[in-house]
Amino acid sequence: MENLISLVNKLQRACTALGDHGEESALPTLWDSLPAIAVVGGQSSGKSSVLESVVGKDFLPRGSGIVTRRPLVLQLHRIDGDREYAEFMHLPRKRFTDFSLVRKEIADETDRETGRSKQISSVPIHLSIYSPNVVNLTLIDLPGLTKVAVEGQPDSIVHDIENMVRSFIEKPNCIILAVSPANQDLATSDAIKISREVDPKGERTFGVLTKIDLMDKGTDAVDILEGRSYRLQQQWVGVVNRSQQDINKNVDMIAARRREREYFSTTPEYKHLAPRMGSEHLAKMLSKHLESVIKSRIPGLQSLITKTIAELETELNRLGKPIATDAGGKLYTIMEICRMFDGIYKEHLEGVRPGGEKI
Ligand code: GDP
Ligand code: NA
Ligand code: MG
Repeated sequence: MENLISLVNKLQRACTALGDHGEESALPTLWDSLPAIAVVGGQSSGKSSVLESVVGKDFLPRGSGIVTRRPLVLQLHRIDGDREYAEFMHLPRKRFTDFSLVRKEIADETDRETGRSKQISSVPIHLSIYSPNVVNLTLIDLPGLTKVAVEGQPDSIVHDIENMVRSFIEKPNCIILAVSPANQDLATSDAIKISREVDPKGERTFGVLTKIDLMDKGTDAVDILEGRSYRLQQQWVGVVNRSQQDINKNVDMIAARRREREYFSTTPEYKHLAPRMGSEHLAKMLSKHLESVIKSRIPGLQSLITKTIAELETELNRLGKPIATDAGGKLYTIMEICRMFDGIYKEHLEGVRPGGEKI
């Protein structure tokens, strides 16, 4: 199954890299059918912090105000060994091993597209992280929903952000990570409002409650975490991310996770919920869920892939061999990945080994 998720990752990347070529083929449909997880919520609700905790690495720009101004499509690839590195699609030959430089590159690449103003852009930044410490996942960090434009921003920004977020989460294959801060009334949560709009039954929405440590004394989040305040088909997960002070003091991820675990296991109100709280649990739950979604979508994906392979073969024949053009090379790569997918699919679901031999 691990293989299948990583193949879906590869397909996602290959389809994106191909860009405009293949518009006439099944490829755009294929890309839209691949499941991903998008993080939505109000500004400063803790979206980027949640993503960082799930990944277990510091690499995202965070802070007050609109920090995330372009979608970030983040693919996590689990690899063997002890190497850990990141690659951007717009810098194909560069490997980042210093994650503070990843953060800087995200900020710089955001500015390249939007100018240094506080504008937003719907053109995604694609980042892959390879590490032995991650679970295979595709996550999308989105700009925060906001109610008012700030100085230097056009008034339309409020709707522009909302429309951009909606365009990602309205796809039936999108799993929604709806982030709400515990120190604000859930009834006013931007995350709940927009996810309810596109997923009224809460079938593909995961509720994440941040800032539990910042709640007023004498109040707690048990009703929310046990699903009584707002019902979702999936479980609510509470997290405690690093505060701004922790960030300023460079509290590292390992220390932050340990503190989060301690928080849930020692706070009397949450003790009974501790095993299903925190960012490590969230990461595992998401990966498991993604697996089951991919599994359930395989029959549909499979026929699309068969169709894509056939189309790619025709296209490659038309281009003629040997393939000299850039587009030809990319098409060829996608076809290879599709064939691998086809092979793994048969092995897993039909019990047939690549050679056709029954398992
Ligand atoms: P985003 O705008 O939704 O991406 O939010 P960020 O992740 O940038 O977080 C906004 C601010 O809230 C940062 O200063 C974080 O340190 C802080 N923050 C996020 N989650 C928590 C939390 O669970 N507890 C505390 N104390 N602070 C948090
Ligand atoms: Na922010
Ligand atoms: Mg953010």
